[in-house]
Amino acid sequence: MTTTAIQVSGLEKSYKDLRVLRGVDFDVARGSIFALLGSNGAGKTTVVRILSTLLKADAGQAAIGGFDVASQSQRVRETISLTGQFAAVDEVLTGRENLVLVAQLRHLPNPGEIADGLLARFSLTDAGSRRAGTYSGGMRRRLDIAMSLIGNPPVIFLDEPTTGLDPAARVEVWEAVKELAHGGTTVLLTTQYLEEAEQLADRIAILHKGRIIVNGTLAELKQLLPAAKVEYVEKQPSLEDVFFALTGETETAEPEGAENGAPQTRKEGR
Ligand SMILES: Nc1ncnc2c1ncn2[C@@H]1O[C@H](COP(=O)(O)OP(=O)(O)OP(=O)(O)O)[C@@H](O)[C@H]1O
Ligand SMILES: [Mg+2]
Repeated sequence: MTTTAIQVSGLEKSYKDLRVLRGVDFDVARGSIFALLGSNGAGKTTVVRILSTLLKADAGQAAIGGFDVASQSQRVRETISLTGQFAAVDEVLTGRENLVLVAQLRHLPNPGEIADGLLARFSLTDAGSRRAGTYSGGMRRRLDIAMSLIGNPPVIFLDEPTTGLDPAARVEVWEAVKELAHGGTTVLLTTQYLEEAEQLADRIAILHKGRIIVNGTLAELKQLLPAAKVEYVEKQPSLEDVFFALTGETETAEPEGAENGAPQTRKEGR
């Protein structure tokens, strides 16, 4: 695999008259964590579905580990794993049975051992013999992510991995994701939690109105806004400030802010 794990250029997708992606470009370096940020309906899941071969783009190209998602979809599927926005857990099976089943489907030699290792890693050992239908949302999500790690895929897509989790469960998932990247796995995650991107991502891209309007490290994104000067104290902009300035979406719902992508400063506190 080359040093670029994910390459996306000129991706376009419409659902009938709704133009969701209007030319999306980004690269993700191998072994890094890339966060795709965007509001509800921005097209994050659409990007993930195209990259994981579940959906065909109307135009543009995407490659995972050098394999084209359209013409080499089988190779792409062997390279990736996907944890969707809605969990793939079978509620009738126990946590352990869910893991064993996936390991068997992937023709791995020691499914029981793999299942027990993952249960331990995600603090699910005690719950392993209980039906997944009885799990809390956080436990289910952890099981779902554990299932996606079976077979050690080099590229993992996590579509809103911590939506609906309480803060403690969220931190547990973050630790697991960080560990993955340390082990050389490339992670593309989508999130609406700006703190999640701040905590996890090596690079952050904001998808807005069908395009990536900014892509950089947290430090680079923060430099897009000048530090607000309050008397003699300098206040650094948070990722939240950058996000709302660039998307033009404020908590008070001011419409159509940074239409041309030019950073705008918020009046509040400046
Ligand atoms: N199969 C479909 N048919 C028609 N419209 C769709 C379809 N899938 C998604 N859309 C629309 O496309 C837009 C982008 O959807 P998508 O799910 O990619 O957004 P998202 O960024 O993942 O949003 P969220 O944060 O809510 O998960 C939305 O307006 C959605 O309603
Ligand atoms: Mg989505």
